[in-house]
Amino acid sequence: MCGIIGVVQKRGQVAPFLHQALKRLEYRGYDSVGVTTIAEDQLHMKKDKGKIEEVHMKLNLDEMPGSIGIGHTRWATHGIPSMYNSHPHFDCNNEIAVVHNGVIDNFLELRKELASKGHKFGSETDTEVIPHMIEDYMADGMNLTEAITEVTKRIEGTYAIVAMTTKEYGKIVCTRDGNPLVLGRKEDTTYVSSDIPAFLPMTSDMILLLDGEIAALDTEGVVIRKLSDGTVVDRETIEISWTADQAQKGGFPHFMLKEIHEQPDAIRNTLRLKPEILQDAAQLILESRNVYFLAMGTSGHAAIAGKHMFASLAGILPRFELASEFPDTVYGALSENDCIVAITQSGETTDTISSLKYAKGFDTKVIAITNVVGSSVTRIADHTIITQAGPEIGVAATKTFMVQLTSLAQLALVLGELTGSVDKRILKEKRKRLEKLPEIISEVISRNEEQARRLAGLLHDKPSLLFLGRGISQATSEEGALKLKEIAYNHAEAYSAGQSKHGPIALVHDGYPVIFVAPRDETRNRIIGNIMEMKARGASIISVIERGDEELESLSDHLFTIPSGIDSEFSVMPYVVPLQLFSYYMARRKGYDPDKPRNLAKSVTVL
Ligand code: AGP
Ligand code: GLU
Repeated sequence: MCGIIGVVQKRGQVAPFLHQALKRLEYRGYDSVGVTTIAEDQLHMKKDKGKIEEVHMKLNLDEMPGSIGIGHTRWATHGIPSMYNSHPHFDCNNEIAVVHNGVIDNFLELRKELASKGHKFGSETDTEVIPHMIEDYMADGMNLTEAITEVTKRIEGTYAIVAMTTKEYGKIVCTRDGNPLVLGRKEDTTYVSSDIPAFLPMTSDMILLLDGEIAALDTEGVVIRKLSDGTVVDRETIEISWTADQAQKGGFPHFMLKEIHEQPDAIRNTLRLKPEILQDAAQLILESRNVYFLAMGTSGHAAIAGKHMFASLAGILPRFELASEFPDTVYGALSENDCIVAITQSGETTDTISSLKYAKGFDTKVIAITNVVGSSVTRIADHTIITQAGPEIGVAATKTFMVQLTSLAQLALVLGELTGSVDKRILKEKRKRLEKLPEIISEVISRNEEQARRLAGLLHDKPSLLFLGRGISQATSEEGALKLKEIAYNHAEAYSAGQSKHGPIALVHDGYPVIFVAPRDETRNRIIGNIMEMKARGASIISVIERGDEELESLSDHLFTIPSGIDSEFSVMPYVVPLQLFSYYMARRKGYDPDKPRNLAKSVTVL
């Protein structure tokens, strides 16, 4: 977690840009914020706990001298959110400033060692050992790059580190292992950041920095070296197709609402994936003995849906495993004949990345489905499918979920053609209907948004809600419940409707809200039975159904409706939309910021 920015520019005050860049990174963490600049041989520092604008109101982050600076927005792991624990952290003489994303596992031992040498610590963070270690190495005559190289030999854990010192004016040095950093370049300004949107308004020229590399930035550009032997790495510049506008709210009150509305375009763009990319991935899957889906959170719900798509369209039944549990589930029963499809919008989720590294120890093949070019998962994978949602800033995944489903649907169709388990003509018809989904989803949004707002008014104070679905709709109900928990903080639980009578039904009493996801597919008659069971116990039934399904209408107290003619394999895509809107309006109704839910961050880079 946490957002890092560093900028070296030739002239002018850098602080206002750092402030704006941090705002674009705030989705990565918002426990505290801090900025350090260098001017006239001195470090200037402002930092405090709280969201960026709260701290800015107090300290005026724009008023700082100097054209070189670093900034950080924190998601605390070691030490409470406080001014002292806010980054940047410094050495004893206030000459070295460091920001860090990640966790230093052996910090206690290092801290003890440094304290015994007389170093004074001002925070409880793991991070603070870094500037003190740099201080010692520089006192031994090393330059900043050499000192950080030595530090990386001593620290254990995962990190992205950005540092600067008054002793080497004009330079920022950064390195990474396990946590993201990207570099940007425009004329005589260079940038380093945790994520591309931070510098996107200034440049779309990006340079990748890989784990085990160290980069020195100045106004001339960037020099990247391998940490292992110091050799210079020649890295090309990549032009990013994302636009700065995509990383703005564009008239919507929140990114989440904007991103829900962007879903039709996100699907359209993802449907334009090159056929060879899908063909190559399909080939890898077909050559494999076992196929696993690995993912976390919302991406895991895409995996559940993907399992149904593969089975129904291609006769292939992958296993879905939570990435966090994978090594402890598979017990080493992996080989080079197996294949993992890793689904991660950020491409940086540590649970997912570390399980992939584990699987790579068995030479297992990896296909990545991710939304971020150059992200960590792309460097582990044998084959990558880049979804085309554009930047997603809201912490709650919406449009990235939609494009994960889109690419899984496309992959399942290609697999189906190759396995021949479904008639080719039927697959062709299905593909045509998949291409109609962007229009359908626009209609779903416009027809259900008001209803979502209205129901939020009725249900916002319900302490607990149950989400039920059958078959592929279990993925929809899981996602509906997760969205509600994460941004509106209502307790919500998703169950297979079939399983609900084996226990959860005991929770139900008069007026207890139960949300049914009930498309007109092969599960419909059985779900009617489950609705009846819930109604008999006094539940208030809210259902997401096909428009014109009168029987289900008559059984429901409240409705969201979806146009008819949706293939069951693709039904999660339109049916989840009213539930996204419902969570959004629940959060608003309760006065919460849907873009920045408490205790969360966009990308979870700790185990
Ligand atoms: C989704 O709304 C959540 N913020 C979270 O569950 C997320 O899906 C999960 O952390 C996985 O992220 P990834 O897709 O970037 O790997
Ligand atoms: N472990 C560091 C801290 O708690 C960095 C956390 C982060 O990545 O924001 O300050």
